[in-house]
Amino acid sequence: MPTPALHCDLLLTDANLATLETGGNAYGAIEDAALAVRDGRIVWLGPMSRLPEVAATDTLSIAGRWLTPALIDCHTHLVFAGDRAREFEQRLQGASYEEIARAGGGINSTVNATRQADPATLVNSARRRLDALMSEGVATIEIKSGYGLNRDTELIMLKVARALGEQTGASVVTTFLGAHCVPPEYKGRADDYIELLVSEVLPAAHEQGLVDAVDAYCESFVFSSRQIAKVFECATGMNIPVKLHADQLSDGGGAELAADFSALSADHLEYTSAAGVSALASAGSTAVLLPGAFLTLGETQRPPIEMLREQGVPIAVATDCNPGTSPVCSLRTAMSLATSLFKLTPEECLAGATREAARALNLLEDRGTLQIGKRADIAEWDINHPSELAYWMGLNPLRQLIKGQAA
Ligand code: NIG
Ligand code: FE
Repeated sequence: MPTPALHCDLLLTDANLATLETGGNAYGAIEDAALAVRDGRIVWLGPMSRLPEVAATDTLSIAGRWLTPALIDCHTHLVFAGDRAREFEQRLQGASYEEIARAGGGINSTVNATRQADPATLVNSARRRLDALMSEGVATIEIKSGYGLNRDTELIMLKVARALGEQTGASVVTTFLGAHCVPPEYKGRADDYIELLVSEVLPAAHEQGLVDAVDAYCESFVFSSRQIAKVFECATGMNIPVKLHADQLSDGGGAELAADFSALSADHLEYTSAAGVSALASAGSTAVLLPGAFLTLGETQRPPIEMLREQGVPIAVATDCNPGTSPVCSLRTAMSLATSLFKLTPEECLAGATREAARALNLLEDRGTLQIGKRADIAEWDINHPSELAYWMGLNPLRQLIKGQAA
């Protein structure tokens, strides 16, 4: 008897793989392939014809269906109380997002509701949204704070995000978004609020191990570049990576600011200039596009897709799930919207929700493509071709989500 060359816990055979590795076929495709998993990591993949002698605890035929890396939603505001469906109605009657925000609605109305909610209520309401995302293949999700805007509620939001990961097995990456809005008690005193964030709230959240990254909302009616730079300096001083809501409603130099701090990502980018795109390219930041917010706000100015492509800025796609501008709990719907609204290709969309989303979270070495050594977070789809993943809406082709493990 020949000794098996490969030992594994799970061998998947007769599969089509969309590995999302670059440099080969479209989608990094390998047809009629096998993939082996040991200790939650991919230990072998390739054509069936080259499969070595294997000793597998379990073997499963994929029967010609497709495997992709599990999806990654790299920008969400999943934890909040209440909803803003009434504002949605007001906007359809002509009020703008900025007008509603200036009149005390907008983000601050969700802040009021979130401050009053107990943690269990926050877990339960976010859990519904997370279940919806996971049912369509999401295994890793970024969750921001930013509806607490004081020390206690910001910390609660981040703890709720971590608890959601423990409850569901999803990998949760937390982002501190204290600089999301000036809270009512600091109205007209944005500088004092920024001081509170850097002297007290962010250090407390960091000390409790609750902060994987720091984000801010850069828009003329919210925070200036100077104020955000203070928060980013504080984050950088604590070795925490930053990212930015940049140039969503106007060109506020957000992309340049993000690039100055070597941000992991700059998100939205509808109004980003050529100089902003070049700055992102030089800094190696990923552009995270959020078509759900673009659609819900009825925006007409599209992000500078052509320039991003030309300059080689990696492009990710995310839901931006939030009650104000993107009530979207389906990453595949975001992918589909990115094709129709932004003219991304289906392959760019799938890469944007796997490889590039992993890059935006600084996790690309660990996941985001099917590759030997990477975590075996794998989605199995009942489709004939991976282009279908940015094509169907209201039909869920996920057959199963396989979760790997940390190394
Ligand atoms: O990504 N623009 C700021 N943040 C969110 C909106 C949050 C809200 O309106 O509650 C966004 O679009
Ligand atoms: Fe957002």
